[in-house]
Amino acid sequence: MSYQLNKDKIIDILKANENLSHIKDVDSLLDHVLYEARTITNADAGSIYLKKGEKLSFEYVQNDTLMKKDSSSNKHIYKKQEIPINNESIAGYAALNKTDVMIDDVYQLGRNVPYTFNRSFDESSSYHTQSILTVPLMTTREKLIGVMQIINAKDERGRVLPFSQYDKHLVALFANQAASAIERAQMTREIILRMIKIAEMRDPEETGPHVNRVGAICIEIYQRWAARNRVQSSEIKKVKDILRISAMLHDVGKVAISDAILKKKSRLSNKEREIMKFHTVYGARLFKESDSDWDDMAAEIALNHHEKWNGTGYPGYIRDIYNDTISIGPGKKGHEIPLPARIVALADVYDALMSNRSYKNPWPEEKVIDFISAEKHKHFDPELVDTFMEIYDIIKAIREKYSH
Ligand code: C2E
Ligand code: SIN
Ligand code: SIN
Ligand code: FE
Ligand code: FE
Repeated sequence: MSYQLNKDKIIDILKANENLSHIKDVDSLLDHVLYEARTITNADAGSIYLKKGEKLSFEYVQNDTLMKKDSSSNKHIYKKQEIPINNESIAGYAALNKTDVMIDDVYQLGRNVPYTFNRSFDESSSYHTQSILTVPLMTTREKLIGVMQIINAKDERGRVLPFSQYDKHLVALFANQAASAIERAQMTREIILRMIKIAEMRDPEETGPHVNRVGAICIEIYQRWAARNRVQSSEIKKVKDILRISAMLHDVGKVAISDAILKKKSRLSNKEREIMKFHTVYGARLFKESDSDWDDMAAEIALNHHEKWNGTGYPGYIRDIYNDTISIGPGKKGHEIPLPARIVALADVYDALMSNRSYKNPWPEEKVIDFISAEKHKHFDPELVDTFMEIYDIIKAIREKYSH
């Protein structure tokens, strides 16, 4: 291997590290980390597990081969799987012993290794895993964050081959930086979730699983919409990074609504409904006051997530969200409603109808789908309804992952 190649690769890693520090959202970061590690090693696939308590939780997967076969293979991202940190699995072994594990062919493991290869992913997806490079994700303070697995290194002609010692050193170098960035993003996510918890204490229906589902569904709708509209991949990454958290916060303005209305077990009166409409304005106020990266989008979503495509939603144009005598006016219409808010409107109503609320039972799935189709052009952006139906497998996988 030439010196020149080494130097270029190392410069690539330094650049990749540089980018890590700009990403805020955990999922965007995992996506980026895995992509860079696979690029460094020219690998077909990979996955990341994060340490959750005493276990490793499957968090992210990328797979070029499956993605080419079936664009909804994104659903594998939402697979729910936990493995113990012990010597029985390859990832468990890497985590327990804080060591990397390089295997040329997982179907031909040596007899003197304690772990076995878990075939469930291959079996459920018809993929063939062969070579694996597994590295623990450790921060500079030696704290274990998780495990990254890079799968099926390829030569220039796409044939699978073993990873090299050289790959191992490059990925280990990168993994260290990645782990620290992931730890930071996890902390940010945790603070946001705490904020949502506080809102949840007020409104027991707006639960953690509901906001997680709304966040994930929005990302997937956006991703497909962006592909249809040929949005540049750098722009897609940027939006995805802030959309999830902003979407999760769509209803935090409900903290300012009185218990008598918020926790009412039956239908709201017209007067109560009018008061409830102000949760959009209260939400927008929370975010307009500070200036982290996602604040503009979070304010836009909080304010506009109950607007409807045909102009019959609320709160309409509000000249000054701080004015004490705001009146809810005629709704915004069509593209006047910001895209992220149009996406949240669909994801939120879908999930609200599928869920139990103090004032309603969950609807049967078929009835929800019919409702969404019937509301195309009325409540919802028609293009987004089409997008939603196209990725419905992924939506279902999300509902399973965040079921409680
Ligand atoms: P939410 O429960 O998160 O519902 C979000 C949106 O989902 C609703 O916005 C509405 O567009 C849709 N949705 C939810 N349940 C139904 C339903 O049974 N039928 C239909 N057609 N659509 C439904 P909306 O209506 O602007 O309500 C905003 C928030 O106001 C709701 O958030 C909920 O917290 C509260 N709310 C609305 N109606 C009632 C009610 O009758 N009783 C109580 N206690 N709260 C209500
Ligand atoms: C609602 O906003 O109450 C449901 C959607 C609709 O009926 O247009
Ligand atoms: C459904 O029919 O359940 C959703 C629409 C689709 O997947 O095409
Ligand atoms: Fe709302
Ligand atoms: Fe909601």
